[in-house]
Amino acid sequence: MLSSILVPTDGSDHANKAVVFAADLAKRYGAKLTLLHVIRGPGSEHVPEELVEYARVEHLAVTERDLLEGAAREILEKAEKQARNHGAAEIQAVIDVGDPARRILHHAAAGKAELIVMGSRGLGDLRSLLLGSVSHKVSHLAPCTCVTVR
Ligand SMILES: Nc1ncnc2c1ncn2[C@@H]1O[C@H](COP(=O)(O)OP(=O)(O)OP(=O)(O)O)[C@@H](O)[C@H]1O
Ligand SMILES: [Mg+2]
Repeated sequence: MLSSILVPTDGSDHANKAVVFAADLAKRYGAKLTLLHVIRGPGSEHVPEELVEYARVEHLAVTERDLLEGAAREILEKAEKQARNHGAAEIQAVIDVGDPARRILHHAAAGKAELIVMGSRGLGDLRSLLLGSVSHKVSHLAPCTCVTVR
């Protein structure tokens, strides 16, 4: 039996494959799916000068964190739609901030995940790598079975 699956996603094609794979398993087992995106932190809160000037003129306050949170919400919304389209019924979407691998491991333990499904690679551009640094660390330290999807 499988009742709880954790899918960390950075919005990459690799992670999307993991979402589809996990949604299919969730459907078959009637398992709960948790989608997790970790904003790398602590952020520098750095915003380009031009954007700061634009924000001043438009009376907006734009921080790097605002942009990252917007992207995080979008990544999770897309992932949730995709998971529903592939049959997952019970879906939870979570945003966290910190070191991605550490936060993923924390959520796996705290949420008593029985399976972690993630991409073997992500948004990084070192195409020669078989495993990215996040999937490498999580698969070595995971408290449960961890599948890295290719
Ligand atoms: N910030 C994140 N939040 C949630 N999940 C993530 C995050 N970053 C990566 N992942 C998960 O880890 C998988 C592998 O990504 P990873 O970052 O390890 O590879 P990469 O980007 O190719 O390499 P690197 O980041 O080491 O340059 C992704 O497909 C996704 O499932
Ligand atoms: Mg990465």
